[in-house]
Amino acid sequence: MVRRILVTSGLPYANGHIHIGHLVEYIQTDIWVRFQKLMGNDVTFICGDDTHGTTMMLRARSEGRTEEEIIAAMHEAHLCDFTGFGIEFDFYGTTHSEENRLICTEIWSALRQAGLVVESEIEQLYDTEANTFLADRFVKGTCPVCGKKDQFGDNCECGAHYSPTDLTDAVSTITGTKPVLRKAKHLFVDIEKEHKFLDEWVHSGVLQPEITNYLTGQFLNNKLRSWDVSRPAPYFGFEIPDSAGNYWYVWFDAPSGYIGSTWQWCKLSGRNFDEIWRNNSTEVHHFIGKDITYFHTLFWPTMLKAAGLTLPRKVHVHGFLTVNGEKMAKRRGTFILAATYLKHLNPDYLRYFYATKTSGRVDDLDLNFEELESRVNSDLVGNLVNLASRTAKFVQHTGLSSRYPDDGGLFEQGAVVGKEIAEAYENCDFGKAIRLIMECGNRANKFIEDNAPWSMRSDSGRASELQDICTIGLNLFRQMVIYLAPVLPKLKSEAEKLLNTKIQNWTDSCKPVKGVSISQYKHLITRVDHAAIERIIEESKQQDATINPVIFQDSDDVLKAEPLLEGKISIDDFTKVDLRVARVIEASEVEGARKLLRLRLSFGGNESRQVFAGIKSAYKPEELVGRLVVCVANLQPRQMKFGLSEGMVVAAGLGGDEIFLISPDNGAKPGMRLH
Ligand code: MSP
Ligand code: ZN
Repeated sequence: MVRRILVTSGLPYANGHIHIGHLVEYIQTDIWVRFQKLMGNDVTFICGDDTHGTTMMLRARSEGRTEEEIIAAMHEAHLCDFTGFGIEFDFYGTTHSEENRLICTEIWSALRQAGLVVESEIEQLYDTEANTFLADRFVKGTCPVCGKKDQFGDNCECGAHYSPTDLTDAVSTITGTKPVLRKAKHLFVDIEKEHKFLDEWVHSGVLQPEITNYLTGQFLNNKLRSWDVSRPAPYFGFEIPDSAGNYWYVWFDAPSGYIGSTWQWCKLSGRNFDEIWRNNSTEVHHFIGKDITYFHTLFWPTMLKAAGLTLPRKVHVHGFLTVNGEKMAKRRGTFILAATYLKHLNPDYLRYFYATKTSGRVDDLDLNFEELESRVNSDLVGNLVNLASRTAKFVQHTGLSSRYPDDGGLFEQGAVVGKEIAEAYENCDFGKAIRLIMECGNRANKFIEDNAPWSMRSDSGRASELQDICTIGLNLFRQMVIYLAPVLPKLKSEAEKLLNTKIQNWTDSCKPVKGVSISQYKHLITRVDHAAIERIIEESKQQDATINPVIFQDSDDVLKAEPLLEGKISIDDFTKVDLRVARVIEASEVEGARKLLRLRLSFGGNESRQVFAGIKSAYKPEELVGRLVVCVANLQPRQMKFGLSEGMVVAAGLGGDEIFLISPDNGAKPGMRLH
């Protein structure tokens, strides 16, 4: 039975760059999603930026840019980081969208109708110079309990919790001035009214046991406090439709961003929205860090229930990253941005290492660089890749044996273990999955050593024996690659090329390949370059991680308009060309045409187009189906002898028969515009 699954990761704040702590979550989710896709399930992976709140407002003020400009630049930067790590969303949206505003409005009126919204006046500290109310973290002062100076507005290093008005000599961290007390009306969601529902939901198996215990002990055993969901102006966010001058608190419209982004994706892909968000047979899976648990497990289900939207089937909570045993810290060079890592090291190392550390439990996990190095070198290079590198070259001219030889039951044993591996993936116990996969590798490598194919190569009488041993080695290698495909998708495509056979489905791991030709062996994964790790640490000490402006050319950077030089085009000329990513969904030869292939391209929505491309000398139609190309999408359609051509596919070449189609990097989606 095909499961319909919607998966989300927590939406990263739009005011900071992605770092290796975030990646714990996005890599974990991506692995789970890829696993489900490989199992043949109908999976959609949605994420996006979390854009609203005071911090964004203050940043826009201080940088003299609009919030929208910052949001656009950060969206680009985040996607770039994710793509670099092979994290492939079906859609990456934003909470600052019309769709999200509409969803919030719908949820809000449902909460009102259910009688869950209450009004109350509260007193809060106000910065008269910045003209804004101060959230707890924007106030500092002396702890009322122990007397320590320079403590935040909500808690002290001594462990005391208090409200910012309790601090002695409080100051605003925005302007350094002394705040005043001001009254304002706030709107609250009275979640106590849903106590019974929440109690049942929390105990219905949707959460890990430690999370259920935490929620029960900390919250559900007592009366639930109402949730303050409004903020008075000025605030960057959505104004509450029936309460002028008040805005939804960022945590109200952040989780609804999951739905708003799904809606945007539905519009692009033609999928049915109600089938996902108004249908309890759809499995909604949220992946989040432990710090944001109660937003997702108390407030969020209350909002969804009121509006009759699909409740989460599972909330997967993970722990926090430490590096070399300590909290990430800039001065130690361990506050490492995704972009910094990508400059120096292969992202697959981190994907693999995090996978080995993921258990499906809430414990924190540690990135120790020496451990990363030794895991990658011994597991991936020494165990996995070793299988292929010691066998592929001997069958490069003969291909694999035409029937699968007797391997003493090794392949079959690997196929049986596959069930256990799949179960471990399903439960997010990737560490266990990897242990089982590496055990397959140990058995396979022992087989190769015992049979020593390298000793047969000069003995022509043993040619078919050599071919058999290598057929076994490469099949055991391929079986491991399939099991690792959710973690190492690039390795999967390399193995497909090496063995000239596609990997479509998890069950491919039960069928050995026979008789195929073998491509020239290329290094698949190399040993970790130790010096690169040191460069990452050094560079991270220098960096400013939060504000670090994104370099993005916009019109303000251009000093004056210059006359066009001869032979040059203006930026406006260039932007007239609408270059878009498209997927080839059909390809066929054209009868009577020497050079042309007929392609049908999809841009992600319902619409598809026919394009004729002069690439027949270089490509077979069947190898084009499914791949991404770049298409000039606003070209005037041309009536050709063979039919209408509604665009042009971009390729490189010197005018001869050697033609190379241009493809976007991993992660790009049909419909994306090039700029
Ligand atoms: N914007 C909120 C989430 C809104 S979801 C409707 C947020 N953003 S965040 O950028 O701070 O974090 C995004 C996700 O990354 C969260 O799930 C968070 O727990 C996770 N992590 C952020 N730092 C992390 C570590 N150092 N370690 C592990 N996960 C971390 O929270
Ligand atoms: Zn204190």
